[in-house]
Amino acid sequence: MLQIQGLRKSYGKLVALDGVDLTVEKGETVVIMGPSGCGKSTLIRCVNRLTEPDEGTILLQGQNVLELGHIELQDLRRKVGFVFQQFNLISRLTVLDNVIFHLVLGGMDRDQAATRGRRVLARVGLANTEDRRPHELSGGQQQRVGIARALVTNPEIMLWDEPTASLDPILVGEVLEVMEELVKTTSTTMVIVTHEVSFALRAAERIVFMDKGQIVEEGRPQEVLANPQSEIACLYRKLLVQ
Ligand SMILES: Nc1ncnc2c1ncn2[C@@H]1O[C@H](COP(=O)(O)OP(=O)(O)OP(=O)(O)O)[C@@H](O)[C@H]1O
Ligand SMILES: [Mg+2]
Repeated sequence: MLQIQGLRKSYGKLVALDGVDLTVEKGETVVIMGPSGCGKSTLIRCVNRLTEPDEGTILLQGQNVLELGHIELQDLRRKVGFVFQQFNLISRLTVLDNVIFHLVLGGMDRDQAATRGRRVLARVGLANTEDRRPHELSGGQQQRVGIARALVTNPEIMLWDEPTASLDPILVGEVLEVMEELVKTTSTTMVIVTHEVSFALRAAERIVFMDKGQIVEEGRPQEVLANPQSEIACLYRKLLVQ
C-alpha cells in the first residue's frame, strides 16, 4: 500500500529526515512514536505532500507520490485522510460544512455531500451538531469533526498527527475511543503518530520508533515493549509501567 524509501528532508542545516524506509501493508495500523523533533510529522506530511521531501521515493498503491502534478495531487489528497493535532477547522463554517468542504470543492452535489457528511458525523458520535460552529464544541468534539472530515472521502489511508496531543486529559479518552473503533471496524490503512502507548498496544499491529530523523526500531507492540532494544523504545516502556 505505502512504500517509502530513502526519504530525506532538511531545513537548512537541520536534518529532519535522515533516510527513512517504511513499508505499510494494506489494512495495517502502524503507530509512530519518538521524541519531539525526531521527524514524525515531517514523515507523514511528506506522504500527501504537505511537506516536500528533498530525496527519496514514496509509492502509494504503486503511484509515485513525488511525481504527481497539481491535479493528480488533489486526487491523492482525497485518497489520503489527514487528522491534524490542532484540528485545523474553518471557524466561520458549520460543522457539516467543515466536513464536506472538500467534497463540494471537488464537484460533488451538495445534497449528496451532506448525506455523506451526516453519516460520518454520526459515526464519530456527533449526530446533532451539524449546524454548530467549531467554537461551540469542546476540543474532543472538534477533533471528532476533524476525524469526520478525514473519513468523508472514504480514504484508502488515514494519517494522524498526534490527534490527542492538544486535548485536555479528560477529553483524550473520547477521541481515542473513536480512533480505536475506527481501527477495528474499517479496513482503512492507518498511520498514527501518538505517544499513547496503551492505545498502541490495543489497536496497532506495529510500532515504529523514530529518533533523530531515523527509524531506530519497529515491531509488534507487545513484543517491542516487552523487550525494547533502542533507547527510545525503553523510554516508552517506562511510560507504560508508570
Ligand atoms: N517548516 C519548518 N521549518 C524549519 N524547521 C522545521 C520545519 N518543520 C519542522 N522543522 C524541524 O524539523 C525537525 C523535525 O520536526 P517534526 O515536526 O517532524 O518533528 P516531530 O517528531 O513531529 O515533533 P513533535 O513531537 O514536537 O511534533 C524539528 O527539529 C523541527 O524543528
Ligand atoms: Mg509533530
